[in-house]
Amino acid sequence: MRSRNRGFIKLAALLGVFVISPVMAQIQEADQVQSALNAVYKKYKDIKEGKNADYIPALARVDPKIYGIALVTTDGKIYTAGDVKSEVSIQSISKVFTMAKVMEELGADAIAKRIGVDATGMRFNSIVAVEFAEKELGGPEINPLVNPGAITATSMVRGKNRDEVWKSILDFHSAFAGRPLSVNKEVFDSEAATNQRNQAIGSLMHAYGFIKDNPAQAVDIYTEQCAISVNAKDLATMAATLANAGKNPVTAKQVMKSQNVPEVLAVMATAGLYDDSGKWLYHTGLPAKSGVGGGIIAVSPGKFGIAVVSPPLDEAGNSVRAQKAITDVSNTIGGNPYAPTVAKTK
Ligand code: DON
Repeated sequence: MRSRNRGFIKLAALLGVFVISPVMAQIQEADQVQSALNAVYKKYKDIKEGKNADYIPALARVDPKIYGIALVTTDGKIYTAGDVKSEVSIQSISKVFTMAKVMEELGADAIAKRIGVDATGMRFNSIVAVEFAEKELGGPEINPLVNPGAITATSMVRGKNRDEVWKSILDFHSAFAGRPLSVNKEVFDSEAATNQRNQAIGSLMHAYGFIKDNPAQAVDIYTEQCAISVNAKDLATMAATLANAGKNPVTAKQVMKSQNVPEVLAVMATAGLYDDSGKWLYHTGLPAKSGVGGGIIAVSPGKFGIAVVSPPLDEAGNSVRAQKAITDVSNTIGGNPYAPTVAKTK
């Protein structure tokens, strides 16, 4: 073979290795992710388990058939299956972002010292957990993802008045989602009219010195933040921002300080699904957070954020379809950060 031809073949082979194969790998990866989403959408579409939350009357009226899955990678690719347009209220998933907001303003220690970062092992609105935190253990042994800790976190967000605090919370959530979010007024009004238990929790947290001032305002703003309206794509983008060291991979905006992300993920891992957090972590390895509106977000650090919206919940208050769908997708595409990796030897 003439040497010029050999040179050409070598160049083509090199091109194959350095240009074509990465492109092929990306196409394969995209196919794999999309088929994983399609498969779980189909697998769980018709299951009948679970029931909409009804202690907030407006949530009982949401269509239980809404079922959407979205996955956003840390390089900004978006995959979806099912209904990713219908919106539900964000509910407890907002607790993650308000926690992050407090850390932005006051540092990570503010959360650990004032509220605590331990799982309660009790329901999200347990008053017994508050009593244990204060009386038995003599210190803050709750966390910002259960109602008492979350209402306290909301009370810590800076602002001269209610409007300023609210705007800063809403803007922060919107930056994670990459679009201006708004509030579902029906859900807000419905919860505000029936949240006497949270008002009691707010008062107790004030009585025990966790909340410094104006617990009624903290509960009111907390209730409004829970009524922020989101679809599966918004939630997946919010999760992907956490997966991407606090930088929204779709808008490229650094939304929170990267150094605060590990602590946020740690509390999601230990307390994101309440008393089922251990079981969840065992099966997925993913920091996650659920909401009684039917959403769950989960974060595979450095890889992707995933969210599923489906209102019917199990006994612990977590969406049935969302738990199943996220577990399957993540385990299919290798999302578990604890999965064994073998170090390359020379
Ligand atoms: O405070 C409440 O009870 C609701 N706004 C939020 C609870 C919630 O989402 C619990 N999550 N699974």
